[in-house]
Amino acid sequence: RIVYVNGRYLPYGEAAVHVEDRGFQFGDAIYEVCEVIDGRLIDEPRHMARLERSLNELQIQQPMAQRALGHVMRQVIKRNRVRDGLVYLQVSRGAAPRDFYFPGPDVLPTVVCLARPMSRAVPATNALKGIAIKSMPDIRWQRCDIKTVMLLPACLAKEAARADGAKEAWFVDGDGFVTEGASSNAWIVAEDGTLVTRQLGSAILPGVTRTTLLDVLREEGMVPVERPFRLNEAYAAREAFITSATQTVMPVVRIDGNTVGDGRPGPIAQRLRNKFHQFAA
Ligand code: PDD
Repeated sequence: RIVYVNGRYLPYGEAAVHVEDRGFQFGDAIYEVCEVIDGRLIDEPRHMARLERSLNELQIQQPMAQRALGHVMRQVIKRNRVRDGLVYLQVSRGAAPRDFYFPGPDVLPTVVCLARPMSRAVPATNALKGIAIKSMPDIRWQRCDIKTVMLLPACLAKEAARADGAKEAWFVDGDGFVTEGASSNAWIVAEDGTLVTRQLGSAILPGVTRTTLLDVLREEGMVPVERPFRLNEAYAAREAFITSATQTVMPVVRIDGNTVGDGRPGPIAQRLRNKFHQFAA
């Protein structure tokens, strides 16, 4: 395996960043995960746009032009001969002696990019059965719209979900509304048949898969509603599912032990899962 680090393509075992990298010490870094199908990046422009937005929000210098970053991602895919899998791209504020204040402009961002093959069989099998969700309080910060590597709350939530036999956690805000998954956006088909996902804002990540799926829905003549929903509404929903670059559209069949619908992946979730890749550029 070959990894890109700061301008060099290195063997996996030799790739390294500085011990005083701010991504390591402060979580002062942002990232993107893109799906790769048939060697092609899915939804690249939207991932690039979100990366740039995350950098701007945190005042991290843009390490290179978007086109150059795209080139790096494609090189990593090619050099690792990845056909189906994912690309992980991380940009930190750089390495400097530990200090909360930002370093000067001479400290350059650290860029890491790696590609990993991933069999599409595993998510496909999960999608046939549907997954279980465990809810928990959203203990993350107030800027979840920025895709930072400060993922400890997500790790804790997913580990707790796994201990309960669930694949994903849904975070619930102080008013009892579902925000999003630990690493996905949350959707339901409400009792009256409307497709619901939480509106954008600082409480959720603007998922690229979410945005593309909204396009698919509108193309199909469906009218999705972007509003908050509570757990009780989700327990009673006809269907539920999650979206992310790695899961696409993944049906949800249980939430906190409550069966959603008839306990099998819903027809809308299944149809959208199939539609998604025809649509995503
Ligand atoms: N996670 N919400 C959160 C908190 C996420 O971490 C993710 C993605 C999403 C979905 O965004 P997108 O559709 O752009 O993948 C929503 C990635 C896959 C990860 O951390 O591995």
